[in-house]
Amino acid sequence: MVEASGKKQVDLTVELGRVRLANPVMTASGTCGYAFELKDFVDLSRIGGFVTKSITLEGREGNLPQRTFETASGMLNSIGLANVGLERFLAEKVPLLEKMTVPVFVNVAGRSLEDYVAVSEKLSGIEAISGLEINVSCPNVKVGGITFGVDPAATAELVGAIRKRCPETYLIVKLTPNVTDITVTARAAVEAGADALSLVNTFTGMAIDVEKRQPVLGGRTGGLSGPAIRPIAVHMVSRVYREVAQTAGVPIIGMGGICCAHDALEFIIAGASAVAVGTNVLVDPGCLVRIMEGIGDYLVAHDMKTVKELVGCLEGV
Ligand SMILES: Cc1cc2nc3c(=O)[nH]c(=O)nc-3n(C[C@H](O)[C@H](O)[C@H](O)COP(=O)(O)O)c2cc1C
Repeated sequence: MVEASGKKQVDLTVELGRVRLANPVMTASGTCGYAFELKDFVDLSRIGGFVTKSITLEGREGNLPQRTFETASGMLNSIGLANVGLERFLAEKVPLLEKMTVPVFVNVAGRSLEDYVAVSEKLSGIEAISGLEINVSCPNVKVGGITFGVDPAATAELVGAIRKRCPETYLIVKLTPNVTDITVTARAAVEAGADALSLVNTFTGMAIDVEKRQPVLGGRTGGLSGPAIRPIAVHMVSRVYREVAQTAGVPIIGMGGICCAHDALEFIIAGASAVAVGTNVLVDPGCLVRIMEGIGDYLVAHDMKTVKELVGCLEGV
């Protein structure tokens, strides 16, 4: 229970299947570091859950600069999954995560199915880690670089392989929006054993330096995030909720351009049980706590007792 304005008590707790969060506001992978990098700017004990940046089997330097570019109402990034790699993550970062007081989810990425399985196996059973978020937006180098998450069969094979080797592990599958119909890949992930779905990752985009007539970003293309993508992300959450997740009883973590409580409420009403904030945390880390408080204020103003009452209550669709 949290105290919202007017001193009324409202219940912000969320059950993502067997994982319980004190409130629905989480960090989005890649925007809040490995653990406590944001501790001077935000009280991390007040958020609902923490998601690390993507971890790969081997450490990665990432793409050449320039790695980020501001666009109208958003940003492009081509970080290229720069990270310390599994061994250093286990040695240096997991001890820090043990000090986190909220559920922690480690985002997993890879260049092949075997990479994903190896990383997931090593991270399974660690007490400080409540679950894994599988980032399927990576190219499979073994089959010509096709992104796992754009192909429902590849998504199912990947999630199924991780599920088989990590039967007890709580698995969130993070979907890419770069598909024709996201309900198809959502269904593939659920049928292969996902405990939860998170959506959306970034939209592939490009910015061009017209003087040089070259892409601005070192990685040539980048991922578009921020407010520019929010209406599309809300629509995708709404569809996945109504066409896949609701019947399957699989919770959704919604994200894409959330900056304030109003934005988060859109996702929750569309069907998300929890939300994650990425790009706006880079600008304003304090928004995480304000979004949580604002959801509480909305419940009080609308005479509701629990945030669960709001999940998927969208009318007129
Ligand atoms: C700088 C940056 C780095 C990101 N790195 C990752 C990552 O490592 N793994 C991942 O699954 N998503 C990553 N994302 C995607 C975000 O987690 C999120 O899905 C997306 O940005 C949409 O949310 P937003 O508009 O609130 O940022 C990254 C996004 C940004 C802006």
